[in-house]
Amino acid sequence: MVWKVLSFAVAVIYAVSAAPQSRITGGDQVDITDVPYMAALVYHYPRINLRIQRCVGPLISSYHVLTTAFCFNGAVLENFTIRAGSTLSLSGGVTSTIQHLIKNPGFVSETLLNDIAIVFVKEPFRISNVIRSLRLPPQGFEIPDGRSGIVSGWGFDKERVDGGTQHEYLQSVLLRKVTQRVCTETYANNSNVTVTDSVYCATETNKGVCFGDSGAPMVAPVYSTAALIGISSYYQGCGSTYPDIFTRVDRYSNWIMENAVAPSARSLEFDTPRIAN
Ligand SMILES: *[C@@H]1O[C@H](CO)[C@@H](O)[C@H](O)[C@H]1NC(C)=O
Ligand SMILES: *[C@@H]1O[C@H](CO)[C@@H](O)[C@H](O)[C@H]1NC(C)=O
Ligand SMILES: *[C@@H]1O[C@H](CO)[C@@H](O)[C@H](O)[C@H]1NC(C)=O
Repeated sequence: MVWKVLSFAVAVIYAVSAAPQSRITGGDQVDITDVPYMAALVYHYPRINLRIQRCVGPLISSYHVLTTAFCFNGAVLENFTIRAGSTLSLSGGVTSTIQHLIKNPGFVSETLLNDIAIVFVKEPFRISNVIRSLRLPPQGFEIPDGRSGIVSGWGFDKERVDGGTQHEYLQSVLLRKVTQRVCTETYANNSNVTVTDSVYCATETNKGVCFGDSGAPMVAPVYSTAALIGISSYYQGCGSTYPDIFTRVDRYSNWIMENAVAPSARSLEFDTPRIAN
């Protein structure tokens, strides 16, 4: 199992680095079998009968999806559909709705402090070749500067004002963690976000997250297992020179393990999250 998970991560790293330019911004199209932990959080606006992919999140068990707390600003929980097991965000795979949500109690909307939330799904997702949960890093596990991770999402290919559109097919990009000093200095004058030691920045020339990628997972090896090291929280300019900001999942591993409990009538193999070891 560990070997299998790692080999899919390594296979994606090679596929992503070899394939030609396309998008998230600057990413490449991937199949759900390459990143089977991906779930789309699709939002329904009934008055105009529009369904858009609002955020993304990785499965951390059959019952739980991790994403940003920011994703739910101004949103009604009943109007979300969670789709797993599909390369497309708006069709295919299996869907569920939200049972309830736990935002991190330290979340501050204005500065995106503690931008992380646990989504509990009503209908659990059964593990298959297209549906799998990601392991969490141990509490406090810090990835080294310069380490690359796979970031996946269905967000826009470029800024909306530049005529960007939503990706229909899943995209992945490899981003490299930069030093905390660069991260802090980059955003020193931006009052919309505060860089603390509970976030890190990652980038690559002309690549990055974009509109609709909030919650996009960054996956890298932890010990010898592909694990969820970060979720996309903030960006300034799609694929710009500003590195993208990720919530450090390892800062919240204990909080996630304490809160992501399974229903008592559980019956599935991976009903609660697991820590990489
Ligand atoms: C959510 O969905 C329900 C049922 O379709 C609808 O009545 C309601 O207006 C929606 N809420 C929002 C904020 O769109
Ligand atoms: C932030 O603002 C200060 C003072 O105006 C300026 O000297 C500095 O270059 C700015 N930093 C960035 C990254 O824009
Ligand atoms: C901060 O947010 C405001 C309101 O959304 C926006 O107008 C402004 O451009 C943002 N500042 C930066 C530096 O992104």
